[in-house]
Amino acid sequence: MLAVASDHGGFELKQAIVALLEERQLPFTDMGPTGTDSVDYPDFGAKVADAVSKGEVDAGILVCGTGIGMSIVANKFQNVRAALVHDRFTAQMSKEHNNANILVLGGRILSVEEGIELVKVWLDTPYEGGRHQLRLDKIHNYEQEQGS
Ligand code: RB5
Repeated sequence: MLAVASDHGGFELKQAIVALLEERQLPFTDMGPTGTDSVDYPDFGAKVADAVSKGEVDAGILVCGTGIGMSIVANKFQNVRAALVHDRFTAQMSKEHNNANILVLGGRILSVEEGIELVKVWLDTPYEGGRHQLRLDKIHNYEQEQGS
């Protein structure tokens, strides 16, 4: 199960992502917003990040104007590895090496077509595991230390 959300700056791309997930018949929940009125990205980023953090969904996709605000808020949540990507290579690496469980995109940086292409790369790329898992374990340990 995936969760998707945006702010007004990412709304158009988020709607296209919803259409892609429907087309691929992937189960997802759209956590908003429902229109282009100005909203605060932390509110919508937190919905998806909280669901990923608690294991209520497997992964998420967030879109704001630059992707920066959504990345900052999502990475405040335990167990979240949110990756802001700008091209095919970073989209691929975010999964192969970082096993990013939230993909973050900038709706004012990418065209809708470019953004959809990056979602496809992220969805279709497997995590490599191996040496990369040791590094993710280190991140998890630092996270645990900070939280205690
Ligand atoms: C909203 O104007 C804009 O700040 C937001 O979409 C995002 O780019 C923040 O990082």
